[in-house]
Amino acid sequence: MKTQLNTAKWIAFFRHNQHNRVEPRWDAPIKVLPEARLLLEQSLKEFQLGDGGGPASLIAWNVMKYRKSQPGLDEVIDLWFEEEKEHSRLLGGLLLRFGVIPIEDHWSFSLFCFLRKVLGVKFELQILTLTELSSTAYYWLLLRHCEDPAVRDVCSLILRDEAGHVAFQNDRLHCSGTPGKGLKRLLWRAQFLLSGSVAAMVLWISHGKCLRTMGVTTARFYHEAWRQFGRFMFKLDVRAKQEERSQVTGSALERTMAASA
Ligand SMILES: [Fe+2]
Ligand SMILES: [Fe+2]
Repeated sequence: MKTQLNTAKWIAFFRHNQHNRVEPRWDAPIKVLPEARLLLEQSLKEFQLGDGGGPASLIAWNVMKYRKSQPGLDEVIDLWFEEEKEHSRLLGGLLLRFGVIPIEDHWSFSLFCFLRKVLGVKFELQILTLTELSSTAYYWLLLRHCEDPAVRDVCSLILRDEAGHVAFQNDRLHCSGTPGKGLKRLLWRAQFLLSGSVAAMVLWISHGKCLRTMGVTTARFYHEAWRQFGRFMFKLDVRAKQEERSQVTGSALERTMAASA
């Protein structure tokens, strides 16, 4: 069942998250294994462009209709993308620390933006959700396996924001009536997992070499990515069941009241 997203709650949430942010330790001595340095720099360059670089907004051809679909949604989306822009700034700080010039374009980012533009806002929101879940796996593994203090601080800040983004996407999907019931629900889950696996595969192809030099195996990365997808779907299911139960209780109560009237 479709319900309205509580935009006031999300506006307050994103505004609150703008406070108490400590700058990473930019001046701390660099602690990256020599064999990992070049690959890490390349990986960070691509993430700096992909995570909040570029347009940093919803760009689908039909986005205006979605943005105006309910009061407050426009502001929620802007606040969400403000945080994405901040991720690009933080990653840019790491590039500066390593003496690396940022990139302004990459074929994979251009393709990503093209697909978001032409396939419509529903697809764009799904692809962004899956990218956020896969990136969470990347930042989480980088946090655990890279000893550099500034890299770790940046990962911690981004992970804090992405946890909020993922919760927002979950709420947004729940309110839009996803994942439905029965076969519809099964099909939705299958396409979500399949698209998620493609997103994770693309990420691993581009950034796996970097993570591998830090001791992250292919199995470990996919385990983490699927853990993120699984947790996301589990939370959606729990909320859908809670709503079903409250509907059943509500209609039973209505029947009892009608019978006693
Ligand atoms: Fe981000
Ligand atoms: Fe995000």
